[in-house]
Amino acid sequence: MRHLLSAADLSREGALELLDVAEEMAATQAREIKKLPTLRGRTVVNLFFEDSTRTRISFEAAAKRLSADVITFSAKGSSVSKGESLKDTALTLQAMGADAVVLRHSASGAAHRLAHAGWSGVGVLNAGDGTHEHPTQALLDAFTLRRRLAERAGGDPARVLEGARVAVVGDVLHSRVARSNVLLLETLGADVVLVAPPTLLPVGVGTWPCRTSWDLDAVLPDVDAVMVLRVQRERMGGGGFFPSAQEYTRRFGLDGRRLRLLPDHALVMHPGPMNRGLEISAEAADSPRSTIVEQVANGVAVRMAALYLLLAGEDAA
Ligand code: CP
Repeated sequence: MRHLLSAADLSREGALELLDVAEEMAATQAREIKKLPTLRGRTVVNLFFEDSTRTRISFEAAAKRLSADVITFSAKGSSVSKGESLKDTALTLQAMGADAVVLRHSASGAAHRLAHAGWSGVGVLNAGDGTHEHPTQALLDAFTLRRRLAERAGGDPARVLEGARVAVVGDVLHSRVARSNVLLLETLGADVVLVAPPTLLPVGVGTWPCRTSWDLDAVLPDVDAVMVLRVQRERMGGGGFFPSAQEYTRRFGLDGRRLRLLPDHALVMHPGPMNRGLEISAEAADSPRSTIVEQVANGVAVRMAALYLLLAGEDAA
């Protein structure tokens, strides 16, 4: 793996390999092996032009647990505020000896540009680019779903997600998580339905490998997992996103009543951060079905696997 830019870049075999390596990484953590020597002498730069809690901290933890040196760069307080470009920032980081760059940026396509503009020879991991993609979030979601469904029904880990029914609900228009999840889950054989008001579906969603619905109540009784998306008001330019927030919650919010429409085994997922009381109620977020905290924990193992496969290269076992 040269870069990880899009869930679309992952073949079924490549995605399963990454999930299997993540299981091995999680097993080392469970055995309280705090550090593996795998990436000793390598430097990972976390380059964050947009705010993040989960992704930034878990990439940092993942790199450190593989013994890499980590440089964390936040655009706030850097020369970006003086007008320095992504290109010049990338060249500066390369000069400092970066082997891999983990990039979060508000511009869709920024990770692809960094990887393919010829500015640097480093491996690039897309940690979220605008409204485009967030592949490691989709991988940690698939990891969590696969684990939970395998615990319930057993079976070949390579096939657990085949036929799994997943509803992705809410602000698809602004969600890089939705696009990456649809692409990855389809690659792994799951059946995905997007549930959203037409105003929060992107143009071209008809070409995505999934179904769409506006009727959340009708969808919920037939799913193995419901993945609630954050309403991204910061990307809406101060405009409204629905008749009103109350109306959105009434039509598309996951609350206690809707929780009871789900099959007994169905999971509640959310990539975080959550708008409690808007797209998800506290009852749903904190219910025993919720995997929200588990998703965060699994993010470290999945990002360890991504860094390992990117940087260990031919040394990888
Ligand atoms: N899910 C996610 O990307 O969260 P952060 O913005 O906190 O990284």
